[in-house]
Amino acid sequence: MGYKVVVAGATGNVGREMLNILAEREFPVDEIAALASRRSLGTEVSFGDKTVKTKDIEGFDFTGWDIALFAIGSEATKKYAPIAASQGCVVIDNSSLYRYDPEIPLVVPEVNPEAVEQYKKKMIIANPNCSTAQMVVALKPLHDRARIKRVVVSTYQSVSGAGKEGIDELWDQTKGMYVPGQEVAPKKFSKQIAFNVIPHIDVFMEDGQTKEEWKMVAETKKILDKTIKVTATCVRVPVFVGHSEAVNIEFEDFLDEDEARDILREAPGVMVVDKRENGGYVTPVECVGDYATFVSRIRQDGTIENGLNLWCVSDNLRKGAALNAVQIAETLGNRCLKKG
Ligand SMILES: NC(=O)c1ccc[n+]([C@@H]2O[C@H](COP(=O)([O-])OP(=O)(O)OC[C@H]3O[C@@H](n4cnc5c(N)ncnc54)[C@H](OP(=O)(O)O)[C@@H]3O)[C@@H](O)[C@H]2O)c1
Repeated sequence: MGYKVVVAGATGNVGREMLNILAEREFPVDEIAALASRRSLGTEVSFGDKTVKTKDIEGFDFTGWDIALFAIGSEATKKYAPIAASQGCVVIDNSSLYRYDPEIPLVVPEVNPEAVEQYKKKMIIANPNCSTAQMVVALKPLHDRARIKRVVVSTYQSVSGAGKEGIDELWDQTKGMYVPGQEVAPKKFSKQIAFNVIPHIDVFMEDGQTKEEWKMVAETKKILDKTIKVTATCVRVPVFVGHSEAVNIEFEDFLDEDEARDILREAPGVMVVDKRENGGYVTPVECVGDYATFVSRIRQDGTIENGLNLWCVSDNLRKGAALNAVQIAETLGNRCLKKG
C-alpha cells in the first residue's frame, strides 16, 4: 500500500523534477495528482512511463491525499498550503514562505531527519534554499568531527534557480548576442546574464546583504547549528543548471585535509572528486541529473588556525529542491506516516 501524492507546480522546473524523482526512486505512489495554475490546465507532464494531465490547483480537494509536494512560489503557497494542510494533507514546500517559522521544521534528511516529526504542529514541512541544502550536506560530517565556528561562502548560482524565466533569459540573450537586432534586454535578472555574472540574488536588505545571502545564514543555523556564524556572497552566473560554492570553514578543533577528505567520502549524500590535477574536480555541467553534493578542492587554509577550503557543486533542481523534497517525503513515510 502506498501514498496518494500531489505535486503542485508540476509544469515548473522543480515540479517536473519532483515527478521524475518520485518515479526514479520508486516512491510508493498509489495515486498522483499534478497541479499548476489555470494557465496549464490539461498540460501533459511525465511521471515515469505515464503521462498525467495537469489540473488547476484552485478548488482542488486535498481531502484523502497524504502528501503534497509544493513548488509554486511563496505567493501561491500562502493561499493554497493552508488549504491542503487543513484538509489533512502534509505539505512539503519548496518556497521560502515557512522556512523561518519556529513551528515548521526545515529539513535536509542527511542532516536533521528527526525534525520531520514536528510536522504535526502545522502539517507543513519546509524545504531549504538550494544553496543552503547542498552546503549543509557537506558541512554536517565536518561539524560532527571538529565543530564549525564560522563559514565564509561565495556562490556561483545557475539561472534555473530563478525558474523557467531565468533559463529562457540566458538562452535568448545568448542567441541575441550573435544576431543583430535580436538583442534581449534584462527582465528576470537586474543586468545582462549572458557572458556576465551578477552579485545580486533576491531583494536587498537594510544592512546591505541580499535576501539570498541572509537565507543561507538563517537556514544553516536552523538546520545544522544555531551557533555557527555564516557570511555569504551570492552570485548569479550564466550556467543553466548546477550551483557551485567556494566554502571557507573555520573549526574549533584542528582538522587535517586528508582526514576531512576521508570523512566526506563516507558522508551520506556526498561524493568526493578531488584529484590535484587537470580536471580532477567537479563543475556544474557534470552534476546535472545527479543526486550527490560533489566536493572537490579540499585543502587547508593556512591563514587561520583551524581552516579548510572546499568547492561544493550540486544540481540545484535536485538536491537544492526536488530531490530534497522527495527525501523528506521518504523520511516522513518511514518515521511518521507508515503504510501497509
Ligand atoms: N529552481 C530552484 O533551484 C529552486 C530551488 C529551491 C526552491 N525553489 C522554489 O520552488 C518553487 C518553484 O520554482 P521553479 O524553479 O520550479 O519555478 P518555475 O519553473 O517558474 O515554475 C513555477 C510553477 O509554479 C506554478 N505556479 C505559479 N503560480 C501559480 C499559481 N498562482 N497557482 C498555481 N500554480 C502556480 C507554475 O504553473 P504554471 O506553469 O501554470 O504557471 C509552475 O508549475 C519556487 O518557490 C522556488 O523558490 C526553486
